Amino acid sequence: MDIQAFADRRARLLRSMGRGIAVIPTAPERVRNRDSHYPYRHDSYFYYLTGFPEPEAALVLIAGDSPQALLFCREKDPDKEVWDGFRHGPEAARATFGFDAALPIASLDDKLFELLAGQPVLHYSMGHDANWDDCLVKALNRVRADVRNGVHAPAEIRDVRVELDEMRLVKDTREIADMRRAADISAAAHRRAMRATAPGRFEYEIEAELAHEFRRCGAQAPAYSPIVAGGANACILHYVGNSQPLRDGELLLIDAGCEVDSYAADITRTFPVSGKFSPAQRDVYELVLAAQRAAIAQIAPGQPWDAPHEAAVRVLAQGMLDLKLLTGSLDGVIESGAYRRFYMHRTGHWLGLDVHDAGEYKVGGQWRPLVPGMTLTVEPGCYIRAAEDVPRGLWDIGIRIEDNALVTADGCEILTEAAPKSIVEIEALMREPGGA
Ligand code: GLY
Ligand code: MN
Ligand code: MN
Repeated sequence: MDIQAFADRRARLLRSMGRGIAVIPTAPERVRNRDSHYPYRHDSYFYYLTGFPEPEAALVLIAGDSPQALLFCREKDPDKEVWDGFRHGPEAARATFGFDAALPIASLDDKLFELLAGQPVLHYSMGHDANWDDCLVKALNRVRADVRNGVHAPAEIRDVRVELDEMRLVKDTREIADMRRAADISAAAHRRAMRATAPGRFEYEIEAELAHEFRRCGAQAPAYSPIVAGGANACILHYVGNSQPLRDGELLLIDAGCEVDSYAADITRTFPVSGKFSPAQRDVYELVLAAQRAAIAQIAPGQPWDAPHEAAVRVLAQGMLDLKLLTGSLDGVIESGAYRRFYMHRTGHWLGLDVHDAGEYKVGGQWRPLVPGMTLTVEPGCYIRAAEDVPRGLWDIGIRIEDNALVTADGCEILTEAAPKSIVEIEALMREPGGA
């Protein structure tokens, strides 16, 4: 593990804190039912600063002339390790991950009382976990109760995530390498899914192909619940039931990406179940693809966050008029928002440790300008539900095309190119022997 990258991030946060103490806990384990847990996923902020994957841990940073990074974690426990596997314990965690010191998590309450005393500022993000909030409030109140002994409690609490959100927005070399691997594996999974698709197969069978490729290639998990939506299901934006049969003549929309070493990919492809687009499907597909191309052309340093969305909306709205889904003028349907009947989401979001990653989209009331190292999705779509006022040939066509972009010095790089998206490429791939 490249522990230097994590140490550099801690040093940067310590510098920006100026003074005070920061507490950044990891996520709790969650019970699924009775004594079974959901697969554990650490907190992204905690991981960003530590690389430490175990539950029941917290990072404490103390800013000042001699800044310190302390890890609190579980102690070694040979009996529990027989059942649940390896735990570093404080000493190995300190040595392996490069902290100034590491201490048992059981000592945190008493230690926090000592460490908070005399600090002017507590950097902590309230409101995300009631147990941690309670722990911090109790520690603060213990220090406040000690005031007659000349102890000062922090007078200020600042949200440590504000600075971390800014840091997470621009990815470093190590993060980009992880995102490339997530993108490559996810693209391979989409290719596998396309090859495996045929009339009569079920959405869940295709979901299984995605999962197979993710794990076969070493991804730890899907980055979010995969959407495998045949026919009209594609018009349900968060369809995750994945239970229905795939029918000849319908499209299949797949929104799926994996997580590799904690970094996400987020790809959507839409293709015909039969391997061949119908003329109506082709029209809508080419429209969404043109909208995506227009959006991608807007991604460059200095461009406002919203520029790709505006470009996509313009192309999509014109296409909706051409397809007789809407009537009126281009400016009119954009102004009134009439296009939202068929395109109701935005064209992208930040991507990174979280699929909808950290970071503000506006600064000082303005859309934030893109800078090199930012990573975002570009995902226009068009969702046409059956309705009397809609041309019959377009009923139940739902299409989204989603790629992951890295802002570069002079434009952007699409990290997910390896997932085919032109009609020619898709139809060629689907003629290849299937994965079934
Ligand atoms: N897969 C979630 C999204 O596209 O935003
Ligand atoms: Mn997606
Ligand atoms: Mn997305």
